[in-house]
Amino acid sequence: MITLIMFIVLSSNPIINHLLAPAYAVSTIKVGDQLNITSKLVSPATNFTLGFFTIPETNNTYLGIWYTIDDYTKVWVANPSTPINTSSSVLMIDPDTAKLIISTERTTLVNISDNESGPSFNLTATLQDTGDFQLKNETDNRIIWRSFDYPTNVLLPGMKLGLDRRTGRSWNLTSWLSDVIPGVGAFTMSWEPTGDDSQRFTIQRRGQPYWRIGDSNNQR
Ligand SMILES: *[C@@H]1O[C@H](CO)[C@@H](O)[C@H](O)[C@H]1NC(C)=O
Ligand SMILES: *[C@@H]1O[C@H](CO)[C@@H](O)[C@H](O)[C@H]1NC(C)=O
Ligand SMILES: *[C@@H]1O[C@H](CO)[C@@H](O)[C@H](O)[C@H]1NC(C)=O
Ligand SMILES: *[C@@H]1O[C@H](CO)[C@@H](O)[C@H](O)[C@H]1NC(C)=O
Ligand SMILES: *[C@@H]1O[C@H](CO)[C@@H](O)[C@H](O)[C@H]1NC(C)=O
Ligand SMILES: *[C@@H]1O[C@H](CO)[C@@H](O)[C@H](O)[C@H]1NC(C)=O
Ligand SMILES: *[C@@H]1O[C@H](CO)[C@@H](O)[C@H](O)[C@H]1NC(C)=O
Ligand SMILES: *[C@@H]1O[C@H](CO)[C@@H](O)[C@H](O)[C@H]1NC(C)=O
Ligand SMILES: *[C@@H]1O[C@H](CO)[C@@H](O)[C@H](O)[C@H]1NC(C)=O
Repeated sequence: MITLIMFIVLSSNPIINHLLAPAYAVSTIKVGDQLNITSKLVSPATNFTLGFFTIPETNNTYLGIWYTIDDYTKVWVANPSTPINTSSSVLMIDPDTAKLIISTERTTLVNISDNESGPSFNLTATLQDTGDFQLKNETDNRIIWRSFDYPTNVLLPGMKLGLDRRTGRSWNLTSWLSDVIPGVGAFTMSWEPTGDDSQRFTIQRRGQPYWRIGDSNNQR
């Protein structure tokens, strides 16, 4: 009994938890690495895990990020509208296009990142402890792409929603279609420009206003 209590106390200590994390856990892939359907990336302090998951009701497979201690809540999905169904799918960095892709046998199934660029061999993709998945050019140390810029239905600390008035680019949350279909659902949460120089927070249902709060000068 005493042993059991001591074990519980020890294992709720984050430092011990970290030491108990699987020795093979990695948080980064580089060009040439492939993350297959059963492998995972785990962020350095083990806060988040990235990997493929299959929804039993549909047999559709998605790449996602979840809390390591709670795999039920997916905080991000790479391919909500383009599920994959082949068990030979892998996540990799395509050196020819410098994109993060899901591919099978040399065929690109999903382009996850969107920046157009030429061949590049010195790239890494790392799952951060914030839950942000970042594609980085190691040569000039620039982040080329990050999952935080492509929110799905969960806002994590450090993510921003908003609207860049200059480029027209927006960062919204969008509900899943149903509990078992991550594809674009009915509800969108966004900042909507108003006549003057401000934006207001709004929830739309199928493109129609559903809920708004008062005008706000909050800018991204
Ligand atoms: C996936 O990758 C891991 C680690 O590289 C390997 O041990 C495992 O056999 C692979 N699984 C499949 C289904 O290819
Ligand atoms: C999912 O795949 C399994 C095994 O191939 C099959 O038995 C099951 O009927 C499939 N379920 C659906 C919803 O397609
Ligand atoms: C897998 O997806 C492809 C293309 O989306 C489709 O043609 C094929 O029928 C699917 N296979 C299964 C087993 O569902
Ligand atoms: C992925 O992007 C490349 C260009 O970088 C394009 O040629 C290819 O058709 C795209 N594939 C898919 C599945 O969208
Ligand atoms: C990771 O988890 C630890 C323990 O829960 C927490 O203290 C820390 O703030 C988290 N790190 C980030 C970047 O969220
Ligand atoms: C990648 O970039 C880093 C930082 O500039 C450099 O130290 C390293 O040698 C580069 N690796 C390759 C394979 O070019
Ligand atoms: C990476 O950085 C180097 C040096 O600035 C640049 O030549 C190369 O095009 C960059 N690659 C990508 C994919 O951005
Ligand atoms: C990649 O594209 C995004 C916009 O989609 C842009 O904000 C970012 O600066 C680009 N990154 C690079 C390295 O060009
Ligand atoms: C965000 O929502 C607004 C509606 O408020 C819409 O016009 C915009 O296209 C959405 N942006 C994205 C990236 O989904």
